[in-house]
Amino acid sequence: MPPLRGRRVVLGITGGVAAYKTPELVRRLRTAEAVVRVVLSRSARQFVAAGALAAVGAEVVEDHRGPGMVHIDLARWADAIVIAPATAHVLSRLAAGAADDLLTTMCLATEAPLCVAPAMNRIMWMNPATRANCALLAGRGVRFVGPDEGAQACGDNGPGRMSEPGEILGMLERLWGAAGALRGINAVVTAGATYEALDPARGFTNRSSGKMGYALAAALADHGAAVTLISGPTALPAPPGVHLIPVTSACQMRDAVWACRGTMDLFVAAAAVADYRPQTVLADKLKKDAHTLTVTLVRNPDILAEVAGLTPRPFTVGFAAETGDVETKARAKRARKGIDLIVANPIDEAGVGFAGDDNRVILIDKDHAAAWTAAPKTEIARALAREIIKRLPRTASP
Ligand code: C5P
Repeated sequence: MPPLRGRRVVLGITGGVAAYKTPELVRRLRTAEAVVRVVLSRSARQFVAAGALAAVGAEVVEDHRGPGMVHIDLARWADAIVIAPATAHVLSRLAAGAADDLLTTMCLATEAPLCVAPAMNRIMWMNPATRANCALLAGRGVRFVGPDEGAQACGDNGPGRMSEPGEILGMLERLWGAAGALRGINAVVTAGATYEALDPARGFTNRSSGKMGYALAAALADHGAAVTLISGPTALPAPPGVHLIPVTSACQMRDAVWACRGTMDLFVAAAAVADYRPQTVLADKLKKDAHTLTVTLVRNPDILAEVAGLTPRPFTVGFAAETGDVETKARAKRARKGIDLIVANPIDEAGVGFAGDDNRVILIDKDHAAAWTAAPKTEIARALAREIIKRLPRTASP
C-alpha cells in the first residue's frame, strides 16, 4: 500500500518566502493520497493565498477565536503535523512552548509526530539562538528535514533554503514505513572521487562530489538495508544510520569493498574511481627542474567488474558518467562489466551531473532503457532505491 494513502497531514505554513512552494507540496501530498488540512500563520498569508491551497485539494482551517476547540480537534485528527516553511520565529515559539495562535496551540496539544522544514537566511539559521532552539526541538523528537544549501531569496548563499516538496514527502514516507523492503539486505555503496597520490603534496582526482552515492546510501538505509558506504574524500557528512568507511585511493576502495565480498547482497558503484594511478608515489615533493614532466600511470582495479565476477555475486548496480551518446556507451558498459543495472548520466549538460545537486539519468537493464527527467539527486536516489527493490531477488516490491 502506498505509505501516505489515507494519512491525515496538517500542514502548518509560516511566514517565509518559501511558502510559495506549499501549493506544490499539497499537490504532491494529495497525489500520494494523503488527506491535507492547512493552518496558515498570520504572516504566511502574505506569501501564499488560502485559495491556491484549497484549489490543489487542501482544507484551509481558519484561525478564528470563536467557541469550539479547533486546536484540539486538529491535534487529535492529525497523523502528522508538518510545518513548512518553518521560520526562525516559529522554531523559537515551539521551543518555548508558546500557544498564542492556532498553529502553536495545536502543536502543543498533539501527540502526532511533528516535522519541520526550516527556511530562513543562512545567518539566522547559524545564529546560536536558532541552533539552541533546534537542538531543544530535536531532543524532544521533532523531525527536521533540511534546510538545503544554495542561493537564498535575500541574495545570500548558504544553508537555509526550504527542502523541496519531494524531500518533505520522503520524510513522511520514512515515517510511515515505506521502509522495510530491504531489511536483512547488506548493501555496499561506493561514492565520491578517489585520489591517486603522485607525491606528498599532489595527486590525480576528478570532480565527483559524492552526492549521488551518499543520497543512494541514505535511500537504501531508509528501506531498512544495512548500508556500508565506502567513500573517497568528500565534504559530505555520513548519512544517518549508514556505516561510513572513508578511503582515499582506488586500491584502498577496492580492498574495503573486497573485505565485504562474503556478506554483500547488493553492490552499488557510484564512485568515480580513477582509472589510473601513478606507477610510483614519490617520497619527496617533486621539483620543477625539467621543462616537461612524464608520469607513468598504471591501471587501477575495476572494482565493479571484479564484484560482478564473484560467484555467487551480489546484485550489481553501476554508473556511467558519459558525454555524447550516453545511452549507447552505457549499454555497452553494462554488458562488458556483466552487471545487472547501469545508471547512465550525461556530464556534458549544464546543471546536471558531477558536482551539482541535480542529475538526469537513463536506467538500463538487460531488457530496457528508461530516461528519467532531471531531478534533485536525493529524489533520483529514492526512485533508484525503489527500482532496485523491484529487481532484487529476495525482496518484495515497495
Ligand atoms: O569503466 P567506467 O569507469 O566507465 O565504469 C563506471 C562504473 O564502474 C561506475 O559504477 C564506477 O563506480 C565503477 N568503477 C569501479 N572501479 C573502477 C572504475 C569504475 O568500480 N576502477
